[in-house]
Amino acid sequence: MNLLGLISVGANTEKQLFRDFVNKYPEYLETKKIDHLRKQDFSRLDRLKHVYLDYTGGHLYPESLVEWHSNYLTSRIFGNPHSQNPSSSLSEKYINKARKKVLEFFNCQDDYLCIFTSNATAAVKIIGECYPFDESSQLLLTSDNHNSVNGLREYARNKGTYFSYSQLDYDSLTVNEDDLQNQLSHASGHNHKLFVYPAQSNVSGVQHDLKWINYAQDQGWEVLLDAAAFVPSHKLDLREYQPNFVALSFYKIFGYPTGLGCLLVKKSSFEKLNKPAFAGGTITIVSVKGDGYYLESNEARFEDGTVDYLNIPAIGQGLEYIESIGLASIGKRVGSLTNFLYQHLRNLQHANGQKLIEIYGSDDPQKRGGTLALNFFDRNGDLYDFLKIEQLAYDWNISLRTGCFCNPGIDESNHELSEQQLKAYFKRKGEKDYFDLIEFLGKRRGAVRISIGYVTNFHDIYVFIQFCNSLLNKP
Ligand SMILES: Cc1ncc(COP(=O)(O)O)c(C=O)c1O
Repeated sequence: MNLLGLISVGANTEKQLFRDFVNKYPEYLETKKIDHLRKQDFSRLDRLKHVYLDYTGGHLYPESLVEWHSNYLTSRIFGNPHSQNPSSSLSEKYINKARKKVLEFFNCQDDYLCIFTSNATAAVKIIGECYPFDESSQLLLTSDNHNSVNGLREYARNKGTYFSYSQLDYDSLTVNEDDLQNQLSHASGHNHKLFVYPAQSNVSGVQHDLKWINYAQDQGWEVLLDAAAFVPSHKLDLREYQPNFVALSFYKIFGYPTGLGCLLVKKSSFEKLNKPAFAGGTITIVSVKGDGYYLESNEARFEDGTVDYLNIPAIGQGLEYIESIGLASIGKRVGSLTNFLYQHLRNLQHANGQKLIEIYGSDDPQKRGGTLALNFFDRNGDLYDFLKIEQLAYDWNISLRTGCFCNPGIDESNHELSEQQLKAYFKRKGEKDYFDLIEFLGKRRGAVRISIGYVTNFHDIYVFIQFCNSLLNKP
């Protein structure tokens, strides 16, 4: 295999396609450094002939990061950080270093606090528990949201807070601008208003404009930005846009360690969050007999118990690794491969002219990140069960993802399910699951998701195209 990932088997076709690709996307050739990194740090992919296309699920970790972490751990003595002894102080020092790096990475050293959490879900949960939801508040969500964000509505409901969803445009799966503008600008009379949306959809890859942050704030809203699917391949500059809160998971950016994320809180919004209880590590002082407590005045207020002090330092190293590649280079690579794949898949047809694949979401490359949601159809136009696709891909050693991806709003839009149909289903009593739901609706749900990361090379894309070709003209 050479630098650019060409293989000798079937090289002609792959070479031709590669030539076509770089003619259209010459910027890919500017990302050669990543081909070197793939050899050094991700050689397991080619050694195991694995085509990994689930980067939105979780990024792959560079082997050098794991080695760095192993050396870091085995050459020092680390203890629980809540003390002043040498091992404790050392842990504290490296946690602070990682925290500083996170703030630098998002260019928000002066304006934000970084609360370490176990993942993006836990970051959103802090907002659910601590945002001042009550009868005079309002919550607005986009219909495109991960379930970890959708769950906020239950915190709101329990406190009597009015919540609503803004609609998507069916064809592009982008927000319906009129509806969103309308909902954001006609919400007077509410004390606290929280608008929550993803910078990038975890399903369709659609990027929802960051301009909505300013627009909402100008109308008196606070904004929680779910940046989990956006930040692995795009720069989030928190000097430029300043959502009040940002949630993300680190394994989605550099793969290792799992189990860590953060909530970035704009300092001016910190006191807006009312912590309903205290826990170890979150208070300056507490008394049993005196029945009182004082909470910490910084990020520690929301970091319940012992933080993951052995793994947090690897975050700093992981972010430095990403910086050494450069987000501009990552963006070029992910963008060129995704756009080429998108155009190619859209044109695949059975011999009778029937389309093989339908891709959901915007066809504007400027509005899409490295994720494609799609479905396959046989030559009679009948939908392939996504479980069948997953099973066939398994035999090709391709890791892709199928289902509804924890984002029911997108799936309901893709399959044109109505509010009435779904409300009728949820009025029914008894145990419910996915299969019961599709039987009730008489409609299929779900899709196949392909997601591309900076480690992806043209060969991965080529193999996936070959896999798609193998489904052509099948009954
Ligand atoms: C956009 C988005 N938000 C939130 C989440 C939840 O992340 P986690 O499971 O790491 O908490 C994900 C996970 O895929 C995601 O893609």
